[in-house]
Amino acid sequence: MVEINRMGVIGAGQMGSGIAQLAALNGVDVWLHDSDVEALTRARNSISKNIERQVSKGHLTQDVAHNALRRLRCTCNLEDFGSVDLVVEAIVESEDVKKNLFVQLDKIVEGSAILASNTSSISITRLASATTRPSQVIGMHFMNPPPVMKLVEIIRGADTSDDTYQATRCLAERFGKTVICSNDYPGFIVNRILMPMINEAFYTLYTGVASKEDIDTGMKLGTNHPMGPLELADFIGLDVCLSIMKVLHIGLGDSRYAPCPLLVQYVDAGRLGRKRGIGVYDYN
Ligand code: CAA
Ligand code: NAD
Repeated sequence: MVEINRMGVIGAGQMGSGIAQLAALNGVDVWLHDSDVEALTRARNSISKNIERQVSKGHLTQDVAHNALRRLRCTCNLEDFGSVDLVVEAIVESEDVKKNLFVQLDKIVEGSAILASNTSSISITRLASATTRPSQVIGMHFMNPPPVMKLVEIIRGADTSDDTYQATRCLAERFGKTVICSNDYPGFIVNRILMPMINEAFYTLYTGVASKEDIDTGMKLGTNHPMGPLELADFIGLDVCLSIMKVLHIGLGDSRYAPCPLLVQYVDAGRLGRKRGIGVYDYN
């Protein structure tokens, strides 16, 4: 079984930066890549801030924090990933863009390395088919925010080997996560159930059943969710929610998964949620 000591993370957005933070704090050397240099700067700043906050709260020693930050290297050059043991990609939720990345990675990354995807919904089997190593391709789905949420959902593609599964599972457990395992169907377990609820909350707003505040308060206080579904959609990113709904709709072939027109309209308007300062709510 491959032991993971050096890891590459691709995409330095909310998920990639959180995964890199988690890895660095758990003794793994991490390369973090993004095609956008400003995203890398933002990620490094937010990781430093999060780690310093943990030190100021007495949850981490200065030494541990210092070593974690030393383990993290940011790069705009994918060629730096030559010697990593596992890469997890957390770029945009698009099958074509992810496949294209997997083709590139397959050429750059050592033959023994695992290629993992943090995709929320896309077929691991189809991503694996873009590579020459389908037995070493796997879904490693962290929840947002990765340093806080206790779950990692692992998805085996049609050809994922037992060794790849065990090495990925060990890594998630080393990060302190509980692992669940899903077969490779659209949205896997968590988003198969969560996204239709979020989409239904949009329909509830769209059809004038109630205000956004009352929908969220209803689900927060009525069902003890930490965030209401519309607030959670803003937190996840409305673009990510829409992409997942499209995968469910096409992949499951059922009109009950059709994305709500209001969700589509917000994304068209660039109202992507917290990361853009405006989504269902205005954060400016
Ligand atoms: N990065 C790192 N740490 C963070 C963080 C972040 N982005 N946000 C919060 N934290 C930490 C805080 O530092 C704090 O740590 P300590 O306890 O050590 O002090 C702790 O988390 C609690 O934070 P807060 O008190 O500031 O905030 P909170 O109690 O309101 O919790 C929350 C924030 C954890 C995000 C909570 O609101 C929550 O659980 N929301 C629901 C999140 C959720 O459902 N995520 C899954 C989305 S679905 C998904 O991810 C799958 C997909 O494919 C779309
Ligand atoms: P994000 O928009 O915050 O970040 C994506 C980052 O990827 C951006 O910084 C962008 O510059 C970079 N990027 C895009 N294409 C790239 C490429 N070809 N090469 C290098 N970098 C590239 O997105 P996110 O919310 O972090 O989501 C990333 C992935 O994680 C998606 O697949 C999403 O479905 C999944 N995911 C998201 C959440 C969530 O709550 N947002 C939860 C679990 C999984």
